[in-house]
This record gives sequence, structure tokens and C-alpha cells, in this order.
Amino acid sequence: MTIQAQGVDAGTLPPDSVRTMFDRIAPVYDLMNRVMTAGLDQRWRRLTVADVVRPGDRVLDACCGTGDLAVAAARAGAEVTGLDFSERMLERARRKSAAIAWVEGDLLSLPFEDGSFDAATVGFGVRNVADLPRALSELARVLVPGGRLGILEITTPRGPFAPFYRLWFDRIVPVLGKLLRRGDAYEYLPASVRRFPGPDELSALLHGVGLGHVRYRLFAGGIVALHTGEKP
Ligand SMILES: C[S@@+](CC[C@H](N)C(=O)[O-])C[C@H]1O[C@@H](n2cnc3c(N)ncnc32)[C@H](O)[C@@H]1O
Repeated sequence: MTIQAQGVDAGTLPPDSVRTMFDRIAPVYDLMNRVMTAGLDQRWRRLTVADVVRPGDRVLDACCGTGDLAVAAARAGAEVTGLDFSERMLERARRKSAAIAWVEGDLLSLPFEDGSFDAATVGFGVRNVADLPRALSELARVLVPGGRLGILEITTPRGPFAPFYRLWFDRIVPVLGKLLRRGDAYEYLPASVRRFPGPDELSALLHGVGLGHVRYRLFAGGIVALHTGEKP
């Protein structure tokens, strides 16, 4: 089943198709991350944790996938819950830590009371949701007043890196995906980044769900953005 065959714009898939896609790529997901980023992805996750997580925090890592960001938060001394709607991704996450509570659930309707967490993180996840403002508002809802949110996401760079990025992302990544027999998913990836709001627009959306102290920094020549904000 390819994305085009479903008659859906390659950058916008219905939630069931997103879940099925992540179930399918779960076995190669960590390897593809390391190859696509030359191993930098783990450093970006650690920087996210350093910005928003403090020892002893109750932390929600939403769209946790195979669990790398949740594991980084747990290593920083937090009590972590990882949530994802792909059971195959969660299976891999469970193998990485028994100390983390792994929950199957939907970011668009979080199964937690208001004010349950001191911090929340999402790594490379919000780009895939069907309703971004609703996802951000759910994340804000489950934070305590003063709670911190960190959103790590791929973005489209401007400036001198842009042509290299387009070559890598639009041409080479889909070929790598095909080599691992997951071609449709790695065609979806660049398409989903193209339709995702830029850093200033995402900041405005974070303000829109009531967060304050919203700021962002860019990594790797502007390929990845880390947005942070605080619930008043
Ligand atoms: C690109 S992976 C990111 C995994 C991990 N956070 C990381 O840092 O590598 C995106 C994950 O988001 C999950 N996801 C997408 N939409 C979701 C939703 N609405 N609710 C829960 N999980 C979702 C997918 O199943 C997938 O595991």
C-alpha cells in the first residue's frame, strides 16, 4: 500500500494510516534515525531534556515511539510516562526501560487528568498529528501551572543549508527508505515536513494555547527546531 495509492496528499495522512505506517517502520526506525542524522538525533533529545526536565519531575513524553526521548528524560532523574498510539513502536520502547510507564493512547485525547505533569516533551511527533492546535492544547492541559513543554521537530531551513537539505531529504532519504523496503514512509517524511508550520508559526500556535515564555532554537544549520514554553 503506498501513500499515493490511497489518494491522500503524501504530507497529510489520516490517523489510522499514520499508526499503520509507524507499526510498519518500527523495526528500522532507530537505525534510520541514526543514519539520517549521522547520530545527532540522540544529542538533540538530550538538549530537549536539558531545557525542560528537572530531576524528580513527572514527565509525559507524547508520541514516544521507540522511547529514546523518554529514556533520556528518565536518565535525567524524572518519573516518565511515554505515550504512543503505535503498539509496534511501544513494543520496542518497552525493551529499553522497565522504569518508564508506557501507555498506548492518542495525543489528541490524552488519557490524563488536567495538571498531571511537571513537564511534557514531544520528539518528531507533532508533525504527524491530524489536528496540531488540539495536540498542543492537550499538552498544555495536562501540565501543572509552571509546567514546561518541549517540542523537538524537523523544520525547513533557510539560508545556505537549504539546497543540501533538499538534496538529502527529498532525494536521498526516500532511497534509503526503499533500500530498507519502507519506501512509502520515507517519502511521507519530507512531505510532512514541507507542510509543517515554520518556527515562528509554531511559536504563535504555542502562544495560542496559552503558553508563555515561548522561544525556539535551531540545531544543525536550522534542520531541527526545539520550541519551549511554560504554562502560566
Ligand atoms: C517520528 S516518531 C517519533 C518517536 C520518538 N518521539 C522519537 O523521538 O524518535 C512519531 C511517533 O508519533 C506517534 N504518533 C503520531 N500521531 C500520534 C497520535 N495522535 N497519538 C499518539 N502517538 C502518535 C507515531 O506512532 C510515532 O511513534
